[in-house]
Amino acid sequence: MIVRGDIIFTKEATEFTIFEDSYLLIDEAGKIEGIVQEIETGREYTDHRGKLIIPSFVDLHLHANQFANCGLGNDEELLGWLEKYTFKEEVKFKDLDYAREIYKLVLNRLWEAGSLRSVIYASLYTKTTSLLFDLALESGLSSYIGKVNMDRNVPEYYSETTEESLAGTREIIERYGQISQLIKPIITPRFVPHCTSESMAGQGKLSIEYSVPVQSHINESKKEIEWVKSLHPEALNYSSVYDEYDLFGEKAPALMAHCIHNTKEEIELMKKRQVYPVHCPESNANLSSGIMAVKKMLEEGLPVSLGSDISGGHHLYLPYQMVLAIQLSKMKGRLEDDMSHVIGLPEAIYMATKSGGSFFGKTGSFETGYSADFLVINTDSLMNIKEERSIKEKLEKFIYIGSAANIEARYLEGKLLEKPFKE
Ligand code: GUN
Ligand code: FE
Repeated sequence: MIVRGDIIFTKEATEFTIFEDSYLLIDEAGKIEGIVQEIETGREYTDHRGKLIIPSFVDLHLHANQFANCGLGNDEELLGWLEKYTFKEEVKFKDLDYAREIYKLVLNRLWEAGSLRSVIYASLYTKTTSLLFDLALESGLSSYIGKVNMDRNVPEYYSETTEESLAGTREIIERYGQISQLIKPIITPRFVPHCTSESMAGQGKLSIEYSVPVQSHINESKKEIEWVKSLHPEALNYSSVYDEYDLFGEKAPALMAHCIHNTKEEIELMKKRQVYPVHCPESNANLSSGIMAVKKMLEEGLPVSLGSDISGGHHLYLPYQMVLAIQLSKMKGRLEDDMSHVIGLPEAIYMATKSGGSFFGKTGSFETGYSADFLVINTDSLMNIKEERSIKEKLEKFIYIGSAANIEARYLEGKLLEKPFKE
């Protein structure tokens, strides 16, 4: 397959690689073969001249069961928000009919937003988590999906035993671990305060036994960190609790949402383990959690990515997270009188594509051998008058003032993806 258009992507975090009016060559397996300026006359290609061809987005952290709460409950900090709004919504997913309706919407919205790959917190309930797997397999999208584990410090109406937690996680891995290259399980301890040591040890063992990656939350709010200290007074820090139970990237890849209030030692350990820090700017602003030191972490060589973290964040559409990530980095720079915190558009795109995409292997870039995951963007409606804009400016306008309506086509592994479910 060959696609013609204005090709732009981030091979590096700090700069765009741009090929004006060029051809993206894609092999039979859906991998990028190369980019050329010309092809032999007579060869067929898909013509997107004047449109942008960009890597599709990767959302490395979201809670499918919180989708209906987007836009609600923005008057609390993390721990109060969980109790007052979040568990009350998540418990509704005992009802498979309700879950089916919401999950179809979530998958449709991810498709619309161009987030063709994602990492998802599903449900506490194993049956409901299976349902999300089945729908995701039908959708054509690519996701890691986790059964949420929480066996301590949770309300009675929304809890499970340690045995249920581990048996449910094993059941999901055995059922879905080997059936698809696109949809895979991920071990999901909700966060340290909600998992007993026995549960965390069991989850770590499952991760090693089946070579399954791990996702969780870390260092999001100061009260949460105090809570972890009181639960694990012997631990050096929050990270070392996960690490003790093999949930911190040593034996299998781990991604950790938030990473705001890290100590120096924790950053060192993250580097050693190549943990994926997921930046969730909208959620961090809504829950007044703080501002992640994105630029510093990128400079440390950490694979920082972006997450919508709905419904901590209230938009699935990732460009909102990109813009806010840039804005918050400026605020951090100004507040700390250190403008080296500031990131620009290249870093935001890089986090949402190549950096986050590396969790899935070679995805998120247009270098040779990468998966041909891309979006076709028409920016005509964003130009007020007949503006002559560069490719970089067109991308900037799309990210800042565009919407999913500007995405004309979505391709995953070289195949055109249609909207998954009828609405
Ligand atoms: N920490 C534990 N659970 C959650 C959650 O659902 N959202 C966020 N943002 N942080 C959490
Ligand atoms: Fe979260």
